[in-house]
Amino acid sequence: MNRIYIAGDRGMVGSAIKRLLSTDSNNLIITASHKELDLTNQKQVNEFFSDLSIDQVYLAAAKVGGILANNNYPAEFIYNNLMIETNLIHASFTNRVKKLLFLGSSCIYPKFADQPITESSLLSGYLEPTNEPYAIAKIAGIKLCESYNRQYSKEYGIDYRSIMPTNLYGPGDNYHPDNSHVIPALIRRFHEAKINNSSEVIVWGSGKPRREFLYVDDMARASIFLNNLEREKLDTLTSEMCSHVNAGYGSDYSISELSEIIKNIIGFEGKINFDTSKPDGSPRKLMDSKLLNNLGWMPETSLEEGIRKSYANYLENDA
Ligand SMILES: NC(=O)c1ccc[n+]([C@@H]2O[C@H](COP(=O)([O-])OP(=O)(O)OC[C@H]3O[C@@H](n4cnc5c(N)ncnc54)[C@H](OP(=O)(O)O)[C@@H]3O)[C@@H](O)[C@H]2O)c1
Repeated sequence: MNRIYIAGDRGMVGSAIKRLLSTDSNNLIITASHKELDLTNQKQVNEFFSDLSIDQVYLAAAKVGGILANNNYPAEFIYNNLMIETNLIHASFTNRVKKLLFLGSSCIYPKFADQPITESSLLSGYLEPTNEPYAIAKIAGIKLCESYNRQYSKEYGIDYRSIMPTNLYGPGDNYHPDNSHVIPALIRRFHEAKINNSSEVIVWGSGKPRREFLYVDDMARASIFLNNLEREKLDTLTSEMCSHVNAGYGSDYSISELSEIIKNIIGFEGKINFDTSKPDGSPRKLMDSKLLNNLGWMPETSLEEGIRKSYANYLENDA
């Protein structure tokens, strides 16, 4: 039996990982809600680990948020994320957890990194200032895993890995009107426009920026795939101090194309207008996921199919 602890199992990514791991009867899934276990509290984390004989950890708990939240609460973003990662990675080591997978984010890469963004562009330039504290914490998470491996893997057999997802969407997403990501925000806006018989939907910005989106169940598959991959195979494509692996869809869409896809799936018949007084953000953000593809993982869910499933889930739970 594999005793697997999923930190952040109530979140969008953690719950997708849990759904998939639960399909294997050899896995015993261990979880604790934020209320039961505050991962920023080292004492609580150490006590939790010492009781449970955990074999593997998926670290999908984090303080996450959009530009506004990152701008307003930078101290909380850097403090909470550093504490969660440090507590979990160290407690895993001291309790002899052999495998751990840390989930990072594409915001670890420099603002002006070449596109598509490869793993090796980490620490090659300045970060996007709006989420720098969050990104620094995520970079620290990668470097924690690498440093523990470098110092302890030979002696203790630990193997701690990191995966960097692109923008994710799917069941369990946040549909809050003010602070959601672009796909859930547009699903909500087009759905409400349809229900209210509105003649138009306004989309922020010019519609020209291009973004990459991965369905969360594909991300869960990527996470489990990477965590279970033979070490020798991974070593052929990564190195001791550049060990993180990107997980993206492989191609991007303009916000205008994305809006059309969502409009058609929802069946809104009015017009889309772009509010060009609102900022566009960076023109393009596409990750290079060839490393993971060459190791054997590919996304399976097209953007259309993923949005169809997400909309069905939104109607069931959030509308
Ligand atoms: N969503 C994306 O598009 C995306 C893209 C790239 C990377 N990622 C990464 O994937 C990971 C998971 O993201 P997500 O979208 O699944 O986020 P999410 O839905 O907000 O889930 C995060 C989970 O962590 C828990 N958590 C936060 N602080 C905690 C604490 N101090 N103690 C215990 N639990 C705590 C949250 O519980 P509460 O809600 O109760 O606080 C929540 O269940 C994050 O590392 C994120 O950076 C996500």
